[in-house]
Amino acid sequence: MTNPVPASTAKVSIEFRPHDKVTRVPPGMTIFNAANWIGLPIDSTCGAKGTCGKCKVRILHGHNGATAADRRIFTEKELADGWRLSCRSEANADVVCHVPRLMGNPKAALMGFDRHVILNANVHKIPLILTPPSLEDQRSDFSRIRDALEPEGYAVEASLNLLRQLPAVLRRHQWHVTAVVAGHELVSVEGGDTSDRAFGLAFDIGTTTVVGMLIDLNSGAPVAVRSALNGQAVQGADVISRISYTMLNEDGLSELNRVILSTLNGLIAELLVEGQVAPHEVYEVVTAGNATMQHLLLGVDPEAIGLEPFIPAVEEMVQASAQEVGLDILPQAQIHCLPYLGAYVGADLVAGLLATGLAQNEGVRLLVDVGTNGEIILGSAARTVATAAPAGPAFEGAQIQDGMRASDGAIEAVTIHSDRLALQVIGDVPPIGLCGSGLLDAVAQLRLTGLMLPSGRFVQAEDAAAMVAPELAQRIITDEQGRRSFVLAWPEESGSGKAIVLTQRDVRELQFAKGSIAGGIEVVMQELGVSSEDLEEIFLAGSFGSYINPQSARIIGLVPPVPVERIKAVGNAAGEGAKIALLSFRERQVARSLPQIVEYHELSGRGDFNDSFLAVLQFPELDSLGLESAAAVEAEGP
Ligand code: FES
Repeated sequence: MTNPVPASTAKVSIEFRPHDKVTRVPPGMTIFNAANWIGLPIDSTCGAKGTCGKCKVRILHGHNGATAADRRIFTEKELADGWRLSCRSEANADVVCHVPRLMGNPKAALMGFDRHVILNANVHKIPLILTPPSLEDQRSDFSRIRDALEPEGYAVEASLNLLRQLPAVLRRHQWHVTAVVAGHELVSVEGGDTSDRAFGLAFDIGTTTVVGMLIDLNSGAPVAVRSALNGQAVQGADVISRISYTMLNEDGLSELNRVILSTLNGLIAELLVEGQVAPHEVYEVVTAGNATMQHLLLGVDPEAIGLEPFIPAVEEMVQASAQEVGLDILPQAQIHCLPYLGAYVGADLVAGLLATGLAQNEGVRLLVDVGTNGEIILGSAARTVATAAPAGPAFEGAQIQDGMRASDGAIEAVTIHSDRLALQVIGDVPPIGLCGSGLLDAVAQLRLTGLMLPSGRFVQAEDAAAMVAPELAQRIITDEQGRRSFVLAWPEESGSGKAIVLTQRDVRELQFAKGSIAGGIEVVMQELGVSSEDLEEIFLAGSFGSYINPQSARIIGLVPPVPVERIKAVGNAAGEGAKIALLSFRERQVARSLPQIVEYHELSGRGDFNDSFLAVLQFPELDSLGLESAAAVEAEGP
């Protein structure tokens, strides 16, 4: 079923005094999160759990009933005067409030793409010198720690695992220990003062590649970064084949779960050795991956994601312990899997939103993750919409006659000069095929020379001879069936001894792939009522998006025709966003709320998507992009 009806866009306004800041947010957002959203860091030590009492605000206007947490912190008189915990206080109508205390000396860092992020990890280490028990003081070991933490603003719980270790640790270290608190959980108790060592892991779990970062939670600095191929690649190249694998094999789900854990644990082992960090010093992990990858990591059946109406088991942020998930770090360490916006707009895109600040800033921006599935998010703090467009495997070099993945021997960039062709090949070896970025470049360059028409057809060899140098014109060849191709490498230049060609059919495949993504972009632009002139920036994300030449993307019409300097490759936006969510619990709160804020539009069955798709199949006319063809072509050949 399609869902063309946009979610409600009604907003409530919150005014913060004495800071003179006003924001408009969806009803139900907490005052704490709304303040964070606009860069006002209200004081807190409990990670917005309602326990530290530091986030107090006074409601001056607008009704906000007291919660149980408010009643625990405030007196009747204070409640009557309007004092509330901002982290518990939801704005369901317009509110004016007074914020007495912002976070003192917030440590901030430039992260993601020009984002000023306040560093405030969810993990706190508190050195404690406890009074040993006596006949006069027979409190339990856990009560003794809990009571010592309370004045510091922490109300903690402990797992059975932690309790099993507690008596020995406390007595072995003569009651001089460091409590490690993540949110409201006591995740570890270490002997002596270890407060200068605290680490976390951020993972971008891609279908093909997994990137892991070991981060120092005290400084925010990366300690080690490693990547590895996702071990599940042998069970299928894309998410659909992985889902099929779980459906067709009795142990498929547990096997894929074991394989991804082995990939992650292999990376963890390497990261810990490189960073000289012990497994028990890692207290938190944030993961960003598409819905299928995160389901497989958690051992949750992804079957329903692959079948209409495409439903994940869960879209909210999932929290579990390292022991439950199976990661080789401190067993009580918390694993946080970022949420999804839809079955096919995953946590990697939520992380991308954190990295770019797209849904938190003024000005309309477009984020596109180009792959077999094009994930598209458009908007600003005012309103953000997302969709997913099925692009097929052309961008990955599949279904292209001489296509291949981006690995050694792949042509990754093509430039056509006035008298010759220049290829850039991965690994600096003779070429053996063409990967997605090379395919885009080849078509864009052929459009620029005029050797390819807006319809995608190559010009006839005779016309080519009149337009370009003979060295280039002779590369347009015609087979016995009259089908034209363009030779990128002659047999003697290629590493395989066979010519590498771009066929007319390859161009059609690319047109379908780019038409699907461009059509999806068109639908969300219409949904928001914006045109290309309104776009401040376009971010190209994902392992493929980062390698695309922005000018080529523009020439083939993959993205709207904005000036090329506004198109930015944002590299591993998912990993960067996971890192931000690890280092700032405030940003993690933003990520948590994104599924409620971003409107997801399903494209399948939408008539306007089909219309847009057909309208953008052709390549744009060069003059519409402010470009000039090397040779003007008057008419299309037969
Ligand atoms: S009570 Fe700690 S942030 Fe609200």
